[in-house]
Amino acid sequence: MTTPGTSMQYDIKDINLASQGKQRIEWADREMPVLRLIRERFEQEKPLEGVKLVACAHITTETANLARTLQAGGADATLIASNPLSTQDDVAASLVADWGIPVMAIKGESTETYVRHVKAALETNPNLIIDDGSDVVATMIKEKPELVKNLIGTTEETTTGIVRLKAMVKAGVLNFPSIAVNDAQTKHFFDNRYGTGQSTLDGVIRATNILLAGKTVVVVGYGWCGKGVAMRARGMGANVVVTEIDPIKAIEAVMDGMRVLPMKEAAKIGDFFITVTGNRHVIDKEHFEVMKDGAIVCNSGHFDLELNLDALRDMSQPSITRRPFVEEYRSKDDTKSVIVLGEGRLINLAAAEGHPASVMDMSFANQALSAEYLVKNKGKLPAGVHVLPAEVDQEIASLKLRAMGVSIDELTPEMIEYMNSWETGT
Ligand code: ADE
Repeated sequence: MTTPGTSMQYDIKDINLASQGKQRIEWADREMPVLRLIRERFEQEKPLEGVKLVACAHITTETANLARTLQAGGADATLIASNPLSTQDDVAASLVADWGIPVMAIKGESTETYVRHVKAALETNPNLIIDDGSDVVATMIKEKPELVKNLIGTTEETTTGIVRLKAMVKAGVLNFPSIAVNDAQTKHFFDNRYGTGQSTLDGVIRATNILLAGKTVVVVGYGWCGKGVAMRARGMGANVVVTEIDPIKAIEAVMDGMRVLPMKEAAKIGDFFITVTGNRHVIDKEHFEVMKDGAIVCNSGHFDLELNLDALRDMSQPSITRRPFVEEYRSKDDTKSVIVLGEGRLINLAAAEGHPASVMDMSFANQALSAEYLVKNKGKLPAGVHVLPAEVDQEIASLKLRAMGVSIDELTPEMIEYMNSWETGT
């Protein structure tokens, strides 16, 4: 599709949804004060002037405010979805109609369309790529390596994407700098924990409308996302069971007061299962086999491979849609059902709206400042995975505190002297 009177290419559901999208984008912006400050500075300084940028992200109200910020900085940005189910169609429409930003994303798009959008975005020959899951970067390396010569660098939003980038380094194929935004403390301490914690339960509740109090919720994986989900599920009155493969994370879960079990045992007692591991088939055939009748299973990790749904389909009669995002799989012998939410895709974005704006404020402040950092340091950063300087992290936290009206103390000269000395002891 092309906007009348311009040559802008876009592929969205319905441009007529724009006015609703604009209202919601502006609503989210009220909770994004740090990003707003960056946008105001970018408008003055134009640090991204002339930069062609592709952002592969969940197309949400929060991402729209990031796109506005990149545009204010002078970037010529194209947006595509980082997941076939997470697009908010009204937001996509508003970005096109109200801000003139090309978007290729439709909620429920097929995998073929998703891949077509990734390839079309690469056709713009970007200087910067903001990725969420590393699909654009992986596609470029595999299919269009010649694009690297115009590339200043890339940024990566998520743990899963950073794992992929590190695998690219190991394989010797990552020959440009990439900023691991997820590794910033103002990203993973907040977005992964409080964002995933709240939005995952939001997705489960919107999809099912089932009471969590008194239920056994099995949280698969106790990284920052798992910690957030477990903490919030407990806050809703659930009995939380954690499964882990990492002994340190498992002890942490035990000491946080969670019950820790192997998956094979947890599978027998869970009412809800929520995967947040970033790994494949963490709920497998052997686990589906022993689940209780009516067990509800979903994923909040980046890719839809954490549940072995092929195995479940093989074990089941054709599924029945009970509500939007709720599929019942009845066993062939008709003795029990397993319920899958959101087709095993991240439930917080499939059935709800993703993380609230207040945490995305810090995540996307990191994205905007990473883009600026890459451009400022063009040609100077070695190929590989980088983190933003610690001062940037501190600055984002300070701005967020200020916006929240929270003041903190400063080191006194006496404290600074003590911290820099070694003579004083017992
Ligand atoms: N990832 C998780 N929540 C998100 C949101 N609201 N917007 C963009 N990306 C997200």
